[in-house]
Amino acid sequence: MNDQQLLDLVKQMTREEKIAQLLQLTGAFYEGFHDKELLTGPRAELGVSEETVNASGSALNLSGAKTAIQVQETYLKKNRLGIPLLIMADVVHGYKTIFPIPLAIGCSWDLPLAEQSAEIAARESAVSGIHVTFSPMVDLVRDPRWGRVMESTGEDPFLNSLYARAFVRGYQGQDLKGDKERLAACVKHFAAYGAPEGGREYNTVDMSERNLRESYLPGYKAAVEEGATMVMASFNTVDGIPASGNEKLMRGILRGEWGFDGVIISDWASIREMIAHGASEDDREAALRAIRAGIDIEMMTPCYVHHLDDLVNEGEIEENQIDEAVLRILQLKEKLGLFEQPHRAADPERENEVILSADHRKAAYELAVKSSVLLKNDGTLPLRAHSKVALVGPYAETNSILGWWSCEGNPQDATPLAPALRERMQEGKLSVASCGIETITGGELADMLEATESADVLVVALGEAAEMSGEGAARTNIQLPKAQLELVRRLKATGKPLAAVLFNGRPLDLAGLFEEADAVLEAWFPGTEGGAAIADLLLGRVNPSGRLSMSFPQSVGQVPVYYNHYSTGRPLKAGSDERYVSKYIDSPNEPLLPFGFGLSYTSFEYGELLVSSDRMTKEEPLTVQVTVTNTGQRAGIETVQLYVRDLSGEVVRPVRELKAFTRLSLQPGESGTAVFTLHEEQLRYHHSDLSFTSDPGAFRLYAGPNSRDTQEVAFQLIT
Ligand code: GLC
Repeated sequence: MNDQQLLDLVKQMTREEKIAQLLQLTGAFYEGFHDKELLTGPRAELGVSEETVNASGSALNLSGAKTAIQVQETYLKKNRLGIPLLIMADVVHGYKTIFPIPLAIGCSWDLPLAEQSAEIAARESAVSGIHVTFSPMVDLVRDPRWGRVMESTGEDPFLNSLYARAFVRGYQGQDLKGDKERLAACVKHFAAYGAPEGGREYNTVDMSERNLRESYLPGYKAAVEEGATMVMASFNTVDGIPASGNEKLMRGILRGEWGFDGVIISDWASIREMIAHGASEDDREAALRAIRAGIDIEMMTPCYVHHLDDLVNEGEIEENQIDEAVLRILQLKEKLGLFEQPHRAADPERENEVILSADHRKAAYELAVKSSVLLKNDGTLPLRAHSKVALVGPYAETNSILGWWSCEGNPQDATPLAPALRERMQEGKLSVASCGIETITGGELADMLEATESADVLVVALGEAAEMSGEGAARTNIQLPKAQLELVRRLKATGKPLAAVLFNGRPLDLAGLFEEADAVLEAWFPGTEGGAAIADLLLGRVNPSGRLSMSFPQSVGQVPVYYNHYSTGRPLKAGSDERYVSKYIDSPNEPLLPFGFGLSYTSFEYGELLVSSDRMTKEEPLTVQVTVTNTGQRAGIETVQLYVRDLSGEVVRPVRELKAFTRLSLQPGESGTAVFTLHEEQLRYHHSDLSFTSDPGAFRLYAGPNSRDTQEVAFQLIT
């Protein structure tokens, strides 16, 4: 149907039907839904009638081809005008084939593979009856106390934007209507949900508009530019106004400046929560503020259903404000082809063919390998072929390695580390003993120490429980559980080489582990194929290539600590013992591990950083190149990173900003050259008047393997 036909359809709808179209309910409200209700927010008595349910516009947390077909068939029989139900879900890093958590994917710096993971997630979800995914989450994060950093791709606006685009392309493809096995992408959480004070879940977000635009909005903007069909409003306030009622944010920036004409959905209950925020007296006022802000769909609360009719009758809003929201929802259903094919790609046969297929598992394996980061290694890794290995710790034998937002993923489909290692090692060379995540019994400890007795090398698999990460899991102490640190101490005391593997959803404070272990491999929550991937990494069948997309602090006391910080008027100079400078008296300023950091089993040597000129103009970009040689004994991937610093801006500028990177795959002895072209546009930033331009003046260029260990060259921008 074209827009005129859709408008005609809106005209046929009663006001009640139009208002019901703006309501989203969980699958449990629909006849034919028979799975366990998946609650991703507080359960509330909604007080909605059966008529309203039959006219509601969309459902969430409903999937499975048979269920989706059954629900849609039943629904269409009851919907007076035969308007199909839109089905949405949190497919965040996979549907049944679970990929590493997004923060891990953010460490892969492999954008094609990230895109492929989204395409696979879309395919598995679409044949299971899902039409829209609440993904990508592109909230920029700088505070690992926040549990949802696991859902983000990290602390850099540029890198996050590249991932945002890759995920949207992977989910949506080029033709949502023609390619039924794709998903409409809903970018979230708009905006700046990743900056809650204290890292505390759902806490206040407060920053200058300039900082919001400079650091936090780019990821959402990139997703919208890439064609994301939906945007989800965030729970938090932006400049004192909850996003779900923030006209400036939604109608001013998102729709006005960026031209977004798709559907905006609230987060779970975020419209009603304006009351708790203190921004609305009651559901009626919350409904008024949200519809005025342009929120089209209300997720799991009845403010619209209970009050929009009165608000029109009382002249508070025009009926066409409801009509515009309904039209956008119908346009999305049309874009997905639901009017012609209400079941879209739902197909039990296809489900059996594509879900957890060998190809999908292979892609999940590859991404788990690429997302792992070697944080420390004195040569203990890779494990030697003939070594006797003891694998101990809470993550030695568990298949709970999928992460918090693992959707329909099933740990039973994942192979734990122990069997994966056993399968790859000689008979009798591996002893295994495991324990709890937060408590270790005397018996477990005894078994683990016994397992180490005959071993040449110890591997301890540690980490957070999945529920210590994700939504509602902010932590003030981001260390490993005390019992695990005691285990590390006991293992260290054996005097044997000790390699640690970490399964976690945030940068941790690694006190008690980082110094004690001889090698540390960050596996994150690596997903369905994580066991095989980590086993191959430990055995050196594959070479780690991950680079951190979020800094690891020395301690939680440093947080927030991130690479693209400002200099201050009294920057701490390396080696200085000056008192009156920006520093701590009990900790370094620098994080334990910086953005972009990651080791390899081989070594790379950088040649001289060469720049085409010491000056750049709008018309004449700079060409930057550096040759890198693999000086080790095995093939490896080096991610060469290019950073810039504007030495004198109209407002202060970060000491480093990632502007480009390239991944060089080099054989032993082989050299490769990373070549970058730096344009004037890449030096633009938001000024105090919010204009987005560059300034002539002095700059620095940095290139290297991470944001810290770089070569530096000066250049001028001349205009
Ligand atoms: C949750 C999350 C959001 C998710 C939604 C639906 O509260 O904040 O990311 O998409 O509810 O599950």
